[in-house]
Amino acid sequence: MAAVVLIAEELAPSAVSVLAHDYDVRAVDGADRDALLAAVGEADALIVRSATTVDAGVLAAGPRLRVVARAGVGLDNVDVAAATARGVLVVNAPTSNIVSAAEQAIALLLTVARHTVTASTALKAGRWERSRFTGVEVQGKTVGVVGLGRIGVLFAQRMAAFGTRLIAYDPYIQPARAAQLGVRLVGLDELLRESDFISVHLPRTPETMGLIGEKELAKIKFGVRIVNAARGGLIDETALAAALRDGRVAGAGLDVFTTEPLTSSPLFGFENVVVTPHLGASTAEAQDKAGLSVARSVKLALDGEFVPDA
Ligand code: NAD
Ligand code: MLT
Repeated sequence: MAAVVLIAEELAPSAVSVLAHDYDVRAVDGADRDALLAAVGEADALIVRSATTVDAGVLAAGPRLRVVARAGVGLDNVDVAAATARGVLVVNAPTSNIVSAAEQAIALLLTVARHTVTASTALKAGRWERSRFTGVEVQGKTVGVVGLGRIGVLFAQRMAAFGTRLIAYDPYIQPARAAQLGVRLVGLDELLRESDFISVHLPRTPETMGLIGEKELAKIKFGVRIVNAARGGLIDETALAAALRDGRVAGAGLDVFTTEPLTSSPLFGFENVVVTPHLGASTAEAQDKAGLSVARSVKLALDGEFVPDA
């Protein structure tokens, strides 16, 4: 009997075909907890993206599970410790969507700098309002990168081409490595004080949740523009709304939210806030890479072979 691979979120068709060749591939809506708990009972492998919570309860409901695969980067929706305790391997696709995520952050930054979405909405509504939408250039500005890992580096390299001055806060990175990239490592306070633009590229952990909150937003340069295409909650949403209200933050580009899915928020009421529904990895290329990467890892795990870092 073929092993059962349960796919709980949309996976690239190329990856589904690869898996269907060897396994009994089944689908479930991972956001529907009851359906997930029922379906995981027969699964040997479970594949998720970011909208499925794989906690101790889900793992306990899947006694045959040998591998949980995350078709993307962040593992904050998977209880890795609980999986490990049950002998279930957890794999992800850590480089699959990093270019897409960095490009999404840049798209949001430029959109916020030039009022692109608001101007487009106004024009489509019949309003030709050139003087209302004067933006700012990025060249010559200080860009603060919070988290100089894989995506932060790609973001910084690309922003360097715009002629920006790059600073970063990441206590786990060697200054020499940052210097090679033309980035000056600074403390968080200095980054907040000096940046004209801030882009956050951190994992969601107990340490990083709310890292930029009310206290931090009190230290920012007046008129900063902020981008978060990493994880919701890294920037406290209530504190951000307050800073937008009093003009300390001149604009924000947000791809991620503390609770997802999210269809209404005080942040949606600001004209200078651009929002997207967690689309950082939503490109054809990233989805192919993530899907094929986890398909390979699942096959190795189910064959009892060593699974190398993807
Ligand atoms: P990474 O692990 O390569 O980099 C994260 C960096 O954050 C590391 O350099 C680390 O040292 C730093 N860091 C960790 N804790 C910190 C702290 N407390 N203070 C300052 N720096 C800290 O990860 P990555 O590939 O760059 O991805 C970053 C995150 O982006 C992922 O964890 C994921 O949550 C998110 N992401 C979002 C999307 C999307 O669709 N919007 C797509 C891909 C990834
Ligand atoms: C990730 O961490 O890879 C992203 O959140 C993308 C995703 O899962 O869609």
